[in-house]
Amino acid sequence: MTLAPGYEPIEGSREGAPSTDTLPAGPPPAQGCPHLRGATAGESNGQEGRRLRALGPAPAVELPGRVKARVVVDPGLAERLSAGPHVSRDAARHWPGFREGTRDVDGIIAAWIGTHNALNSYGDDHRQLRSPIAAALTRRRVEAMAPEIELLVHDVLDELGGLGVHEDIDLVQSYALPIPHEVITRLLGVPAQHLPAFSAAAAGLFDTSAAPEDVGRSMGAVLAILDQLVASAREQPEDNLIGDLVRAADASESPLSDTQLRDQLMLIIIAGTETTVHAIGTLLVHLLSHPDQRALVTSGQVSMDAALAESLRLRPPIAAVPLRFAVRQFKDPASGEEFGEGEPILIHLAAAGLDPERYADPERFDVQRAEGSRSLAFGYGPHVCPGAALATREVVIAVRRLLERYPDVRLTVAPDQLPQSASFISNGYASIPGRLA
Ligand code: HEM
Repeated sequence: MTLAPGYEPIEGSREGAPSTDTLPAGPPPAQGCPHLRGATAGESNGQEGRRLRALGPAPAVELPGRVKARVVVDPGLAERLSAGPHVSRDAARHWPGFREGTRDVDGIIAAWIGTHNALNSYGDDHRQLRSPIAAALTRRRVEAMAPEIELLVHDVLDELGGLGVHEDIDLVQSYALPIPHEVITRLLGVPAQHLPAFSAAAAGLFDTSAAPEDVGRSMGAVLAILDQLVASAREQPEDNLIGDLVRAADASESPLSDTQLRDQLMLIIIAGTETTVHAIGTLLVHLLSHPDQRALVTSGQVSMDAALAESLRLRPPIAAVPLRFAVRQFKDPASGEEFGEGEPILIHLAAAGLDPERYADPERFDVQRAEGSRSLAFGYGPHVCPGAALATREVVIAVRRLLERYPDVRLTVAPDQLPQSASFISNGYASIPGRLA
């Protein structure tokens, strides 16, 4: 195997670090460049991150589609790279050969980086694409949406009760999933009949074990619907986020094309649904499997917001968001890590949250951490999640109201037996079997 340009072989390069073949689990090392597998039946994203940490703060890995990248597992380095101008999310500008089509990349990585939207942009271009989205998601606007979220959660709880309190239910499908999907479609103004197609596309884009043709099919179906929505919003922009984006795009000095608008909408749907579904499910699992921690929250000694922050640290809904690129060759002085121009970089949020130097006993769920639970779960720097306030509100309302309405709710499968999403991007439970009483 040829190492990506600019890489030194990893094995033996770091004093004291075990070679990959002494690591506890995972794929066979390919001459010092392991494959990033993501969560599998035997290993979570966090555990894979722990294995990678043994190789240094930013080891080289191979991603699906034969892309070589540096995966950053150290939280300090992750923050410096995310915040600094030396690193970009714009593959078209900063990954030589990508725009020209001379680079061999397909499947999930191509689907994530091949669109032009707030996530995949840099500098002034990023500011222009991000500002109308951020304006729609300010804390004030989220507070104004809270009563509507309460009503929606109330309705979903009624439906849940209708399934039978002594029946086996899946808390993902019947509770965690409908709430964020309804919120996003209402926020954007997408007609409810399109919700199943968006849900399928969002799930498809997070499955990093999916075949390239399947990824293409999920994307194609949803892009066709978005094209129609953009066309009708161009004719008559309404009072919703699609209308806001069209008005901002038209008012801009460099107006966005229909395709760019569509890519922005796609980003919001992808970013705002699967993530929040996992945040609700994972917080429920953490609280239901730690009665002492749950009691601290339900008694009011600790806020549900603090419990959510701890849950996000321990198992962030996004393990890693593809992809960043070094704008030029540089060295990070604090870690001594060097990055070659155009080198792909993947920030591993799930590993960063489990860093033993930042968090004492990092794998323990502790809603009263002395050092606090602040983490990189919502990202860091200019691309930090603009939907964090909305997501926090949704998750806190959803989990609080479920525990109030059904205080005897319980898991029927041990947490370590719950099926995980097969992905190194999304990080959560595919289903959470439980009973309401
Ligand atoms: C618990 C739920 C959520 C989590 C954990 C989460 C996490 C993240 C992360 C890690 C990033 C990338 C940051 C980076 O690269 O530095 C991101 C970006 C983004 N998120 Fe979220 N997110 C959540 C919910 C939402 C919601 C509800 C929305 C919108 C309604 C949203 C919209 C976005 C957008 C538009 C971006 C791209 C921002 C940019 O590149 O400037 N997210 N999110």
